[in-house]
Amino acid sequence: MKLKVPRGTTDLLPEDTATWQYAERILKSLCESYNYKEIRTPLFEHTEVFQRGVGDTTDIVQKEMYEFKDRGGRSITLRPEGTAPVVRAYNEHKMYGAAVQPTKWYYFAEMYRYERPQQGRMRQFHQFGVEVLGSEDPSVDAEVIALAMTAYEKLGLKNIKLILNSLGDSESRKAHREALISHFTPHIDELCSDCQSRLENNPLRILDCKTDMHHPAMKTAPETLDFLNETSNAYFEKVKAYLDVMNIPYTIDPTLVRGLDYYNHTAFEIMSDAEGFGAITTLLGGGRYNGLTEQLGGPESPGIGFGMGLERLMMALESEEIPLPIDDSIDVYFIALGDDAQLETVKLMQSLRQKGLKVDKDYMGKKMKAQLKNANRLQARVVVIIGENELETGYVQVRTMSTGEQKEVSISELDSKLFQLMEEKQS
Ligand code: HAM
Repeated sequence: MKLKVPRGTTDLLPEDTATWQYAERILKSLCESYNYKEIRTPLFEHTEVFQRGVGDTTDIVQKEMYEFKDRGGRSITLRPEGTAPVVRAYNEHKMYGAAVQPTKWYYFAEMYRYERPQQGRMRQFHQFGVEVLGSEDPSVDAEVIALAMTAYEKLGLKNIKLILNSLGDSESRKAHREALISHFTPHIDELCSDCQSRLENNPLRILDCKTDMHHPAMKTAPETLDFLNETSNAYFEKVKAYLDVMNIPYTIDPTLVRGLDYYNHTAFEIMSDAEGFGAITTLLGGGRYNGLTEQLGGPESPGIGFGMGLERLMMALESEEIPLPIDDSIDVYFIALGDDAQLETVKLMQSLRQKGLKVDKDYMGKKMKAQLKNANRLQARVVVIIGENELETGYVQVRTMSTGEQKEVSISELDSKLFQLMEEKQS
């Protein structure tokens, strides 16, 4: 059997990772501006974290988890999402007692979901996410959304759209739930077996059923906004007002309910409406999850966050043909001819690398002409040529590739001369 990556996973080769690293740099520096700190949680958790966190009746928990028993017989699950682990860590480290509140965290993490793979839907994928715990101020909701929108803007995306909804507090959600049960009960026999059990356990999940999505009753289903009580309405109005003052445009979609159980109040998604993006257009999803800390065994502490799919971000950058400032060039390529020249070259390279220049040489015993070709392929700015002659005289040849200009430089002055050339190139 030819060995290949498992279905739904992929290798990221250096031509891809250059873009990923660029995006990660932008996202990290944005988190610094908003004063979010990085958290890293384990790749796997006790299964209970997700059962209690994401919700027993969600597709993620019922159908998509990579769940197994470890050698000690414990039920372990590869992380399918980042919020439940972060909240578990928040409780475990008693962050609710920290002097400065709220706790503002971000993460980059691989996620695992046993889904049917297609473009933009993987079994291993990556998320950049943020979670804010400890505050129920609507300006936090707006800040989290602003961070997400600014991230796409900084990365150069133009065709993005923010979709916003409110699910309301527990009282509003309960009223909506009852309305859903009355609405779907007459259609129970026409719905799939999953939806039949959802009607009892979690009627909200009927709304994101992939099997019944075209059933006429879906279109006329009760919408969350009609069931918001006064407090929830006032909260939603404040979130919108904060978005307005930051000039962040949004579209209200009262059918947006999200696929995880922990949400209440603000729910949002960011979609790509770029042409040719593909069928799955959701780039990011998030919302408020007051009550999740308690569900995971901690004291009451409200939270909100989002998860941004990084594979989908890459697809969006590609479909909008965003030119990325990725510098693949190297500073100096050494061409060494002869054993003694190799020794001297290795010494000089080590010194330049320690000083921070990007330096390389040939390791394949190639002839001079082939080495020059490689220097071109690697987009070297400068080539240093050292042969027996150069070793004897103490002078090496330094060629600036853009102009073809070649000079003799004394080995003792090589470092400073190269740095000078690099500076000239920058200015
Ligand atoms: P989610 O909507 O399940 O939310 O995922 C967030 C984002 O992850 C999606 O919008 C999508 O870009 C990406 N994504 C999800 N599944 C896949 C997949 N199979 N392949 C590729 N990309 C995928 C959450 O995970 C929540 N934890 C977000 C959150 C954080 N809510 C509050 N805080």
